[in-house]
Amino acid sequence: MKVTVVGAGNVGATCADVLAQREIANEIVLLDIKEGFAEGKALDIWQTSPINIYDSRTIGSTNDYSKTANSDVVVITSGLPRKPGMSRDDLIATNAGIVKSVTESVMRYSPNAILIIVSNPLDVMTYCSYLTAKVDSKKIFGMAGVLDTARYRAFLATELNVSPKDIQAVLMGGHGDTMVPLPRYTTVAGIPVTELIEKNKLDAIIERAKFGGGEMVKLLGTSAWYAPGAAAAQMVEAVVRDQRRIFPVCAWLEGEYGLSNIYLGVPVILGKNGIEKIIELDLTDEEKALLYESADAVKGVMNVLDNMNLIV
Ligand code: LAC
Repeated sequence: MKVTVVGAGNVGATCADVLAQREIANEIVLLDIKEGFAEGKALDIWQTSPINIYDSRTIGSTNDYSKTANSDVVVITSGLPRKPGMSRDDLIATNAGIVKSVTESVMRYSPNAILIIVSNPLDVMTYCSYLTAKVDSKKIFGMAGVLDTARYRAFLATELNVSPKDIQAVLMGGHGDTMVPLPRYTTVAGIPVTELIEKNKLDAIIERAKFGGGEMVKLLGTSAWYAPGAAAAQMVEAVVRDQRRIFPVCAWLEGEYGLSNIYLGVPVILGKNGIEKIIELDLTDEEKALLYESADAVKGVMNVLDNMNLIV
């Protein structure tokens, strides 16, 4: 299996590192526009192979997409990250042009690849890539829910002082402050989380999860990378190993949840064809209202992209 990661910044390099260490693909290409940067990071990762005991090959490329030819999966992390005080949506003007041109180059050499978008604003950059690539939406989707639920699960593990392995959760909506963690679908080793934690504590954790990316930007002065990179790698793994894992994924909706023509986070089954199935939960009116509020926020930014007339 061949996997390309476009963008050798913190998130892209972390993703490539996890892909290599866990031998998720035997050929990994890291590509960046900055001269020598991807080559350097790829070489550094490759030099960990005798230490970490794996044989996945990682190579770097300065903007030469021919090296990415016939990739099975391509992860797009290109674009600027957030600075303190910025919302993800503030990045659209710069990142839309970058994601469009990266998608065109990727598709030229790997027309059958499955694309996983990580660039922000996530839901709209996934839409941008989809409009550019003009392929089946099952093959283009975004990484957000795996990261956002990981944050939510990690906070719960800390609060309950239990292993994060035992915490399962569903989270829906856009990758922004309107995202919708769903306590009704959160369990700890099968036990509903509401039986283990007081409501006010759970509410506080949900709020913290919603602003989890912003918390990291404040601490680091830029976006997070370990969890975002690992989350993207986990999605790649589900595809290349045809695991049929159930993850919250930013997917193109065509009537599901009463929503159409929008990229939004929903639970899906991920396998070798990409999105094998979108799972429709029977949401309560209150949950639906939160989801629709999030959808409205995403639609607003999708309209900004449409009005840029970038993609014909
Ligand atoms: C975050 C960025 C990557 O949530 O969107 O950390």
